[in-house]
Amino acid sequence: MEQQASDEALLEEAGAIIRGGGLVAFPTETVYGLGGDAMNPSASQKIYAAKGRPSDNPLIVHIWDFSQLEEIAATLPPQTKALADAFWPGPMTLIVPKNEKIPYETTGGLDTVAVRMPSHPVARDFIRISGRMIAAPSANTSGRPSPTNADHVWQDLQGKIEGIIDGGSVDIGLESTIVDLSEGIPTILRPGYITKAMLEEVVGDVRIDPGILSENEKVRPKAPGMRYKHYAPKGDLTIINGSADAVVSYINQATADAMASGKQVGIIATEETRDLYRAGEILTIGSREDEDAIARNLYGILRRFDELGVELIFSESFSTPRIGQAIMNRLFKAAGHHMIDV
Ligand code: TXA
Ligand code: MG
Repeated sequence: MEQQASDEALLEEAGAIIRGGGLVAFPTETVYGLGGDAMNPSASQKIYAAKGRPSDNPLIVHIWDFSQLEEIAATLPPQTKALADAFWPGPMTLIVPKNEKIPYETTGGLDTVAVRMPSHPVARDFIRISGRMIAAPSANTSGRPSPTNADHVWQDLQGKIEGIIDGGSVDIGLESTIVDLSEGIPTILRPGYITKAMLEEVVGDVRIDPGILSENEKVRPKAPGMRYKHYAPKGDLTIINGSADAVVSYINQATADAMASGKQVGIIATEETRDLYRAGEILTIGSREDEDAIARNLYGILRRFDELGVELIFSESFSTPRIGQAIMNRLFKAAGHHMIDV
């Protein structure tokens, strides 16, 4: 089943698959999710198997109504309501203590549960019509970039899941901001479109998990999924950081050197610099003035380089004002933290 979304009958069919314990991929505003019944331990196990994901890496439970959160939380931390009012439905995931209704298979053995109310109309209709809460990680093979369209899902998961609801390309292109409310001061475990400043406007003090800022591998991120090497393209990616002129000339030189020794090279360029590069597979991520476009295009570009089979990738760096932190977090991981200052 792969069809245009928002067709009530199709969502009914997808909902029946979920109720029967099967898996359906669906669009959200951030990335595509791989959904199963959050209360069904065997559905969660199937999700891990389809993705090739370690089963200690918990899933996010997707809801369409706030009362569903109350149904599965052991307690609601004090900031829950204010954050939900401000940012749900939307690209924010909240971590709260779980009660016994949610199986440990869904939470990777943890006593907390991650919950998100997506804003994508197809996702909302799908969850509502299924009559279930939907456990869903990103719908990619573990270790590949998250899918930002149905074709990416198909490439990774065809034959392993019962259906894909095609809702076209996603809007944001990076996974939700994860905010842990289970330990007092709200803590960002994964940066995303909803920034620290936006959260602080609503609840005051917000921390960032030291494990995602530190280069020191001994400081472990709290979210299990942030510990794995993730979003890794097949080619060896290096971020080049500095003034535009210096970056362009470094990349041109490095590309020429690599190509002279017979290597295939990819370059992540911006509209502003595209014409300044002289060789290699040059892909334009968007304009520096449009950070939303940079976020939206990043994963598709990394996948494209995999298809092109490039062995080395050079990327400009994108410390843009608002979601630059989320973009660079993903790019750093894709690069295995390899950045050169020029
Ligand atoms: O935007 C998104 O969040 C997308 C869409 C589909 O909603 N989903 C997504 O799921 O990115 P996934 O599974 O790829 O990432 C979930 C992250 C993982 O890093 C996981 O370790 C973390 O959330 N997580 C889930 N439950 C947690 C918990 N109880 N405590 C700490 N981290 C948790
Ligand atoms: Mg993921």
